[in-house]
Amino acid sequence: MSPTLELRGLRKQFGNTTILHGIDLQLHGGEFLVFVGPSGCGKSTLLRLIAGLETPSGGQLLIDGKDCTHAAPSARGLAMVFQSYALYPHMTVAQNLSFGMRMRGVPKAEMAHKLERAVSVLKLAPYLQRKPGELSGGQCQRVAIGRALVQQPRIFLFDEPLSNLDAELRLHMRVELAALHRELGAPMVYVTHDQVEAMTLADRIVVLRDGRIEQIGAPLDLYREPANAFVAGFIGSPAINLFDAQALPALAPAGAARLGVRPEHWRCVSADTPGAVPAKAVHVERLGAISYLYAQTEHLGRLCVLLDGSQRVEPGGALALQPDAARVYAFDAEGQRLAA
Ligand SMILES: Nc1ncnc2c1ncn2[C@@H]1O[C@H](COP(=O)(O)OP(=O)(O)OP(=O)(O)O)[C@@H](O)[C@H]1O
Ligand SMILES: [Mg+2]
Repeated sequence: MSPTLELRGLRKQFGNTTILHGIDLQLHGGEFLVFVGPSGCGKSTLLRLIAGLETPSGGQLLIDGKDCTHAAPSARGLAMVFQSYALYPHMTVAQNLSFGMRMRGVPKAEMAHKLERAVSVLKLAPYLQRKPGELSGGQCQRVAIGRALVQQPRIFLFDEPLSNLDAELRLHMRVELAALHRELGAPMVYVTHDQVEAMTLADRIVVLRDGRIEQIGAPLDLYREPANAFVAGFIGSPAINLFDAQALPALAPAGAARLGVRPEHWRCVSADTPGAVPAKAVHVERLGAISYLYAQTEHLGRLCVLLDGSQRVEPGGALALQPDAARVYAFDAEGQRLAA
């Protein structure tokens, strides 16, 4: 069976500047694919190329095996949800949801059926007669998703749909989106800065940097087996501690320039433990079940260490830290991961 979506060497230039350097990517079945990467790396541009809102400078784009590189956006069977909900302010929720269908001349009965389904899936019934100005951000975003839903697109495209919402609503909508994906089983391509969103929603994450793919994989595979220092540093929050390999020579394999140890792979030990790193507690964030200790060391710089919430560490105190030797990542001078 053909991939649902396939990109072959897809390139994009604006003037003389190359934004995407030849993206190869396949999405299979009803997969949830998430694009992450630093601001400006080309996530939105890639999504807009898929949607047909930008013209590629080279390469090919196939949907269900059919070449759609130059197909009009409306011919691709995709629906896009943006960060700004872009609802019509003077229309009610019901009118916003049905506007596109009315424009396309969808028969009344079919329109009613699609509307009913979107309203039920997204729990919009209480708001149908309200206008966007009378809704919360989360409710507006649900309407925007509903508008995509009634199109019954082949693939859903999302560009940071939750980034305007406050932390609590974001979490709520994240859970709703995951449930929606399970229920619809429809393929989704989702752009986000938020790596918790990426980790929790994605079947596979695509990590982009400066218009190139650094690594593609299941969230925990990227977390556990990053291909390079960039992915190691980008996936995981708080971020992995990266430091000069010279600082811990006993743990550095041949050719290592830098080492990385995640916050959860350090232990507080007694000062006389062989190989222990002396440190000074600078700041402790107590989150309840866990705490994050920020500690200053002489040779490894500032470290973030995950502690059990019951462990008492006072800022200003001296301590000794030991990494789990089996969980130390090593990277060469180019940042490529070295085999353990
Ligand atoms: N129409 C355009 N003309 C010229 N340059 C553009 C255009 N659109 C985007 N760019 C540039 O392309 C690069 C990628 O932009 P893009 O919006 O895809 O990044 P992004 O990864 O989505 O970033 P963010 O996380 O901030 O949304 C940026 O350097 C941007 O300035
Ligand atoms: Mg963007």
